[in-house]
Amino acid sequence: METRELTTRAASLEELRAKGRLVTSLNGHTICLFAEGDEVFAVDNRCPHMGFPLHRGTVSDGILTCHWHHARFDLCTGGTFDQFADELRRFPVEVEGDDVYVDLTPRRDPVEHQRHRLQVGLERNIPLVVAKAAIVLAEADPTGVDALRAGLDFGVRRRAEGWNRGLTTLTCFMNLAPRVAPEERSAALYHGLSDVALEAAGDEPRFPLEPLPGDADPERLARWFRSFIEVRDAEGAERALVSAVRAGASPQQLADMLFAAATDHRYIEGGHTLDFVNKALEALDIAGWERAEAVLASMAAPLAFAERMEESNAWRHPVDLVALLEDAFERLPDPGPGGWEGRAELVETILTAEAAEILEALLAALRDGASAVELASAVTFAAAVRIARFPTTNEFGDWDTAMHTFTFANAVEQGLRRSPSRELLRGVLDAAMSVHLDRFLNVPATRLPSPDGEADVDDLFPLLDEQQRVDEAAQLVASYLGAGGDTDRLIAVLGACLLREDRNFHTIQCVEAAVRQHELLDGEEARLPLIAAARYLAAHAPTARSQRQTYEIARRLHRGEKLYEDDALPPAA
Ligand code: FES
Repeated sequence: METRELTTRAASLEELRAKGRLVTSLNGHTICLFAEGDEVFAVDNRCPHMGFPLHRGTVSDGILTCHWHHARFDLCTGGTFDQFADELRRFPVEVEGDDVYVDLTPRRDPVEHQRHRLQVGLERNIPLVVAKAAIVLAEADPTGVDALRAGLDFGVRRRAEGWNRGLTTLTCFMNLAPRVAPEERSAALYHGLSDVALEAAGDEPRFPLEPLPGDADPERLARWFRSFIEVRDAEGAERALVSAVRAGASPQQLADMLFAAATDHRYIEGGHTLDFVNKALEALDIAGWERAEAVLASMAAPLAFAERMEESNAWRHPVDLVALLEDAFERLPDPGPGGWEGRAELVETILTAEAAEILEALLAALRDGASAVELASAVTFAAAVRIARFPTTNEFGDWDTAMHTFTFANAVEQGLRRSPSRELLRGVLDAAMSVHLDRFLNVPATRLPSPDGEADVDDLFPLLDEQQRVDEAAQLVASYLGAGGDTDRLIAVLGACLLREDRNFHTIQCVEAAVRQHELLDGEEARLPLIAAARYLAAHAPTARSQRQTYEIARRLHRGEKLYEDDALPPAA
């Protein structure tokens, strides 16, 4: 092989003309040379879509068509007409006498290229393109922050209806990513980004509002924001919110604005909206608060248009929980300094007592010195018990009811840890009422599993290949932890089990919140959220796992593996 500076001899022109196309291996590249009329072209022989050998493709009028999924490429530039594929790598060619030389100099920055491809994948909702980009971007930036920013920027400007499932899923997976095995992190990014794309597909875009011209007082804007949300004026609320960001409101002031509006009505949108607020704030913590204006603006519509439980029969009859809550809010004491010792008794009251008694117990706990976070933590724990003791005899859809309460309670607690306020404290009482409303979902309550010998945490994988191994999964977790098993390993396995399934929004929320709660608790209590997560996951597995299949294809391509064996192919056209 003769090499001249950056060009390499690839073939004899005469032989190429005689055969029309030739495949050759040069410096680790498999290159296909085409002789078309007087011209010679050199391209990567692997189709950029899924690796089909392009020497088996068809060339017509300068367009090379791959036979597997029929992607078309301009032979001259390598550009594709089918965005599910990618640009075909072409190599500059020089001909001297009978010698065809190919320039193998790398032409593009693969990370920058995949940033661009991620945009294509997001805009056109092409999961394989997103998966390929996620793998390269996660390799370049193992924190995933670069990819999160791209998904966040796309997601918040893309949907007129604002923040919803997709961005919440992305943020949940960003929170879980450091807790799963390094090789699973790009799968977490892929799932999160793909969900943003899937949710945005076909929706109307959002056109952001400019802040008010001139100076504005953040405190007054916060008042206006709440009053606009009150009358479901999303546009007015968005302008007040972005003006507050531009006026220099601190992250804590902005969190207070949003949480106050999210708790001015009871348990809005079945708890989802407050969880979305919390997730938007967590996303900013990771991506950077310089994105606050665009990201938080996407919360105005979800807050304004959320269903309010004042309008719900279950919260009004036979006991008017809204009236009881409003009375309790009037009498809400200032939270104590913490160090309160009535947690176990309060949890039992929340799980078993009538509504009025629960509210009195919550107020009494505050008077006895419970801090806002301590109170919230007790309610969240009670909500986790509902899932851990959820009998499989219930109607299947009721898993979601218990899960909604748990993730709402967790979001309220995370919010209070971020920025305690009397307004958000109302959310703790709302969460307790929702735990109370779910009480018949624990009748009969499933027995909490006791440790029973050694358990191998990897047995969760085959267990969750079968449907409804709910109690067996809980038993495995209890035994593993009881025998001193490593909780980090258990969380990584739960994460891997989650990442191999097709995305179920509620399962993702549940596992993420359970991991958060586990990390905040001590001793025996800390096991319960993980048991709850394993049960919820087992109830919703296995799925078809088609989304993971797409990711695995991207991973194999990235490793350079063949997806199709040449021998199995039909003859060249
Ligand atoms: S179009 Fe070429 S492999 Fe799919």
